[in-house]
Amino acid sequence: MTTSPVAYFNGEFMFLDAVHISPLDRGFLFADGVYEVVPAYNGQLFRLEPHVQRLQRSLQAIHLTVEHDWAQVMTDLVARNAGGDQYVYLQVSRGAPAVRDHGFPTEPVPPTVFAMAKPLKQPSEKVLNEGLSAITVPDIRWQFCHIKSVALLANVLARQQAITEGADDAIMIRDGVLTEASAGNFYLVRDGEIYTPPADWRILHGITRSVVLELARANGIPCHEVELPVVRLASADEVWVSSSTKDVLPITRVDGRPVGGGQPGPVWQRLWSLFQNHKRKVCGSAW
Ligand code: PDD
Repeated sequence: MTTSPVAYFNGEFMFLDAVHISPLDRGFLFADGVYEVVPAYNGQLFRLEPHVQRLQRSLQAIHLTVEHDWAQVMTDLVARNAGGDQYVYLQVSRGAPAVRDHGFPTEPVPPTVFAMAKPLKQPSEKVLNEGLSAITVPDIRWQFCHIKSVALLANVLARQQAITEGADDAIMIRDGVLTEASAGNFYLVRDGEIYTPPADWRILHGITRSVVLELARANGIPCHEVELPVVRLASADEVWVSSSTKDVLPITRVDGRPVGGGQPGPVWQRLWSLFQNHKRKVCGSAW
């Protein structure tokens, strides 16, 4: 018998399968909500403060005021799900008013706050040894990609196109420049230096991205936050993707062609081990 994991729903901890959300919830009807994904290693939430700050910025950007001790909710949730390596998914929507109307509810409606924790698995040996494959697709998203909105249909379609074409992920291109992957930030390496698009409205300002840049700079690897015209892909020695659930992983094939030598590159290998050491130092992770 498997027991349902513990979730958090509107002020209470309860089993995940006991959570029920109204069909009138604006998150369901309009994708009128925002979310966070926070990793925990060895029971310790990693970079919790920047995740909470980004959640607050996302809420502010959609004009949703919610008083909540986000850090405490996530810390308790991880503890109630028996520590270890997990990630917390936390979503806040503009609640469930009595009627469906595009405008914000005119009566006070409590927001819907939901969080769950899931086990966080290390990438497979195959991925670490051989890397991921990706296709390139047009970035058809809106102009507020820095908001961590639950409106992810364009990301979903990009990822599914990759899967349908036998690849792992999709790298998006807007107005001739590389932006990000379907659920992660994008990097390329050329002559031992790291290049990643600037943190503007075109990308999510990834917390993992900030860790990657911080570790690289602290260890003397030059980093450039610059626009990357799509032609830069062809001359890249390495391509990477980063996110809270994947750390930073190599992409070794793009659109069926090998990146550099077609193997995870030395700069990625260095960054990966710096990242794992950093996690162990901060959280005592077993990875
Ligand atoms: N996604 N860009 C996009 C579009 C993302 O969805 C994500 C993360 C990132 C990386 O952000 P961070 O390093 O803060 O996780 C960049 C999460 C993991 C998700 O949607 O599941």
